Amino acid sequence: MVCVQNHYNLAHRRDDALIDALAGQGIAYVPFFPLGGFSPLQSQTLSDVAEELGATPMQVALAWLLARGPNVLLIPGTSSVAHLRENLAAAAIELDAQVLARLDGIG
Ligand SMILES: NC(=O)c1ccc[n+]([C@@H]2O[C@H](COP(=O)([O-])OP(=O)(O)OC[C@H]3O[C@@H](n4cnc5c(N)ncnc54)[C@H](OP(=O)(O)O)[C@@H]3O)[C@@H](O)[C@H]2O)c1
Repeated sequence: MVCVQNHYNLAHRRDDALIDALAGQGIAYVPFFPLGGFSPLQSQTLSDVAEELGATPMQVALAWLLARGPNVLLIPGTSSVAHLRENLAAAAIELDAQVLARLDGIG
């Protein structure tokens, strides 16, 4: 097994323990619905953090996933080139421990 793909994002955290276990075995984890899929993520905390960082809520949601573990790989879906560019730029957003703790509280 090289990769697991399950439903996971800031608000849907059922696989927290699994992600850690897979990381320990060198197995990749690709969350589907990383942005909430058909029900896009909405949270006041997420919006607040995004505003503070000068980013969009979706960018922060992706940055949080990238910070979640070294084995987490992302394929956010979009039909928009502008969103694709925003999503790529999310890889450069660094979240400090305090911000990560606030975002963790969403789940
Ligand atoms: N293994 C499975 O069972 C399974 C199930 C579902 C999905 N998947 C895979 O998981 C990946 C992602 O799933 P998904 O596309 O359904 O869900 P998603 O990535 O969570 O969400 C996609 C939605 O987010 C919007 N979006 C994307 N970037 C955005 C941005 N920067 N700002 C605002 N809105 C943004 C998109 O709208 P716009 O088009 O307007 O950008 C679209 O409505 C895909 O590769 C899919 O194939 C796998």
